Amino acid sequence: MARHLLGIRHLDKDQIEDLLSLSADFKLRVIEGKPVPKVDKVVVGMLFFENSTRTRVSFEQAAYYLGMKTANFSASSSSMSKGETLKDTILTLRYERLNGLVMRHRMSGTPTLAARHFGGPVINAGDGQHEHPTQALGDALTIIERKGDLDGLIVAIVGDVEHSRVARSNAWLLSKMGAEVRFVGPRTLIPPHSAMLPGSVYYDLATGIANADVIICLRLQKERMSEGMLSSVGEYAAMYQVNRETLKYASPDCLVMHPGPLNRGIEVDDYSADGEQSAIHSQIENGVFVRMASLYWAFTENRESETI
Ligand code: NCD
Repeated sequence: MARHLLGIRHLDKDQIEDLLSLSADFKLRVIEGKPVPKVDKVVVGMLFFENSTRTRVSFEQAAYYLGMKTANFSASSSSMSKGETLKDTILTLRYERLNGLVMRHRMSGTPTLAARHFGGPVINAGDGQHEHPTQALGDALTIIERKGDLDGLIVAIVGDVEHSRVARSNAWLLSKMGAEVRFVGPRTLIPPHSAMLPGSVYYDLATGIANADVIICLRLQKERMSEGMLSSVGEYAAMYQVNRETLKYASPDCLVMHPGPLNRGIEVDDYSADGEQSAIHSQIENGVFVRMASLYWAFTENRESETI
């Protein structure tokens, strides 16, 4: 049985804790130049059907540290541009004896479909509006490093929650670990209550971030929006931007986080993105270590491997 990482929603607290402590351990080893256990003789396909900078490069870097080989795949130069179905592409990679897949796709649920047909482990690197589990793990590691624990923290997720897989994976992870999750944004960009996401909803920024320990800012994901969801970007920024002024509503040592890519001047200003309260660089750095942990976790379930 392959161990997939398709989302946070179906992980339990113990599994999340295992992944986070594995990530912290890998970080220490890499930073201190200590040996890292290898997952050798493994080729992992990097299937990015959507653009990516941080996620893709950090998976490559993570695989390199673990001694894995990556096989790159670009949808535009593959046979999918000749009309091949996703299922046939996945089966092709299976028969070419790739051992695992890291996959990003604009449609929710595609990594689950891939997992059904591939055979080896599949790691979701972001699917549509559904989940982005490794981003949530990196964010959690960053928060724990700065705040000590997730339990009892108030975390406000601000902006385009509706289109954000980052918001969903973070909300599942943070609530499972005992944090209070708040979704803050305009009515058109917050999913209806029927979405059953774990968190409370605020349409007013000042109230939503009041006493928050962490603010996770989200980009307006215009590529996933339909017409009429936003009256204007300027109006959005005036009401929901996390900046020098609005940050005063949060707790004085509130962390400012953002999964990237940033649209400066819209959801954040330079003060909150680059100032002392920003944890954005740590999120990027920790992305490598949680992806090492995720690859290791997925590939070592049934392998003889060095114990870490
Ligand atoms: C996010 C994504 O792709 O979901 N970026 C990322 O992976 N760091 C967020 C976004 O695109 O706004």
